Amino acid sequence: MSKADEIFQRRMNRHHDELRWLYMELYQNGDMFAELCETMHEYYKKRRQQLKNRDERREENPGWFKKNDMLGMMMYIDNFAGNLNGVKEKLPYLRSANVNCIHLMPFLDSPKGRSDGGYAVADFRRVKPELGTMEDLADLADACHKKDMNLCMDFVMNHTSEDHDWAVRARQGDGEYMSRYFFYDNYDIPGKYEETVPQVFPTTAPGNFTWLPDAGRYVLTTFYPYQWDLNYKNSRVFNEMMYNFLFLANQGIDIIRIDAVPYIWKELGTSCRNLPKVHTIVRMMRMIGEIVCPSVLLLGEVVMEPEKVVPYFGTVEKPECHMLYNVTTMATTWNCVATRDIRLLKKQMDIVNALPKEYTFLNYLRCHDDIGWGLDYPTLQQWGMQEVPHKRFLNDYFTGRTGSVSRGELYNDDPVTQDARFCGTTASMCGVESALDVHDPARLEEAVRMDLMLHAYMLTQSGIPMLYSGDEIGQLNDYSYKEDPDKAPDSRYVHRGAFCWELAENRGDTDSVQGRIFQGLNKLEKIRKREKIFEASADTYTYDVHDDSILCIMREKDGEKFFGIFNFSDQERTAWMQEDGAFVNLLTGEEIVVKDILMPAHDFCWIKNM
Ligand code: GLC
Repeated sequence: MSKADEIFQRRMNRHHDELRWLYMELYQNGDMFAELCETMHEYYKKRRQQLKNRDERREENPGWFKKNDMLGMMMYIDNFAGNLNGVKEKLPYLRSANVNCIHLMPFLDSPKGRSDGGYAVADFRRVKPELGTMEDLADLADACHKKDMNLCMDFVMNHTSEDHDWAVRARQGDGEYMSRYFFYDNYDIPGKYEETVPQVFPTTAPGNFTWLPDAGRYVLTTFYPYQWDLNYKNSRVFNEMMYNFLFLANQGIDIIRIDAVPYIWKELGTSCRNLPKVHTIVRMMRMIGEIVCPSVLLLGEVVMEPEKVVPYFGTVEKPECHMLYNVTTMATTWNCVATRDIRLLKKQMDIVNALPKEYTFLNYLRCHDDIGWGLDYPTLQQWGMQEVPHKRFLNDYFTGRTGSVSRGELYNDDPVTQDARFCGTTASMCGVESALDVHDPARLEEAVRMDLMLHAYMLTQSGIPMLYSGDEIGQLNDYSYKEDPDKAPDSRYVHRGAFCWELAENRGDTDSVQGRIFQGLNKLEKIRKREKIFEASADTYTYDVHDDSILCIMREKDGEKFFGIFNFSDQERTAWMQEDGAFVNLLTGEEIVVKDILMPAHDFCWIKNM
């Protein structure tokens, strides 16, 4: 046996019994399991030597991604740099922004006008021609690796586009392919599903089923009507999708974002969310990755409340995802911006801080999607706030209707549940856009301060901070999507504008908005990378400073003590606290006495003992 085969065999031996057990439990099909194992070996053999070396290095250092120098940025390829080669040319810019992990938004072949921002994949092995080719992708991955950067992409496994070859054949009535989706001759079963399954896009794509007049059948479409849900009860679907996963990993992708993962298993009579078999599938995926391409990480997209998110880490013996989004913290942060009351965020931080330090969260302020107000309503209720009016308050606040400084738009404003979500960029939500509109320098100054304060808060948390491309220069909402009929109905495009390179030119000039934000972030990121106190192994707590508008986070490690203090109020406030010993302000380098610290409106500070 060659050395390479030995390595594969060793990894296979480690996982084989459990993998087989889970597979047989789901599919009772030994032939298909044997095919899966053989094909995994094929993908292993096809994997480039340099990627295999990367695998071995990372196998020896499995916690490589937990270091405090990690900084991610998510971006649309076309918005940022036109195409994949353009991104490659812009790597020095990203490096100068301290980014070492790039999440490329969906770029696989997807029908124009029916793509859901690329989340309706027509071919898992073809890049959208206008963005480049698979070779360009592998080339970009190589270039990233040479610069010590990682590449992340989406794996949209819950559904395919209706233009995917399987869907085309299924629509023509080919039983083999119909069994890869959920087809129904009449509305009897769909009607039963609708009794228990909530809606993802209640206004832009109501209902969970789509009637296909030409096929004379209904098909399950949890998201848009052109996104057909795959049926993972069919072992052929599972095997083929795993081959697609390995094919993409072999291009040199380091992080696979499993899109909409809670939805991948369906059972009549349930919500079709987070069912136990979803975890069986993710666990199998984790093992398949560890056998073929162990340097590749799984990032689960679980946009749910904390109790539902955490199980996707699996257990110590049986891990599932390597990383998950810290979604409730994100939504709660914005809640505190609107209410100027940090109590809910403090409570949320206490929940996150009590979790095992091995869990790696991706922390973010904004992403390509809307902000859903998934908050802890039972707690808000104890404080006299009711869910429906509170959501209305938040949406009124952020759209600027209440005279607030924020700007943005509602998303899926559902008249039945009154459950509208919100879209807008960080800078627009912080008031940069409205301050520029009225030419008010004082307001602008405060808006920029709030923008930096929120980023500083994100960078204070353990885990991987993930910037949204454009936020590093304070990019504003872009309303031009309304002129494109394909985009106009989907307000998420308001924060998916093209990156403005012209404004980015100002990033060195600290008199400009771009420069203040870019340089401000740059400083914070460098401190985060340099200081041990930001390592994930630090103990982290919330610290009471006796003011409901000021959040204080304390980190402790090896005798070092750090405080991050964030004023969410639009007034000057005092953080009532007293700590003995000498402290230094990490931003200014000045010594500071930690006693009752005066905090300007929307300001923050980072201090550490000396
Ligand atoms: C994820 C994506 C979102 C997309 C959906 C359907 O939630 O983030 O943009 O609409 O999946 O694929």
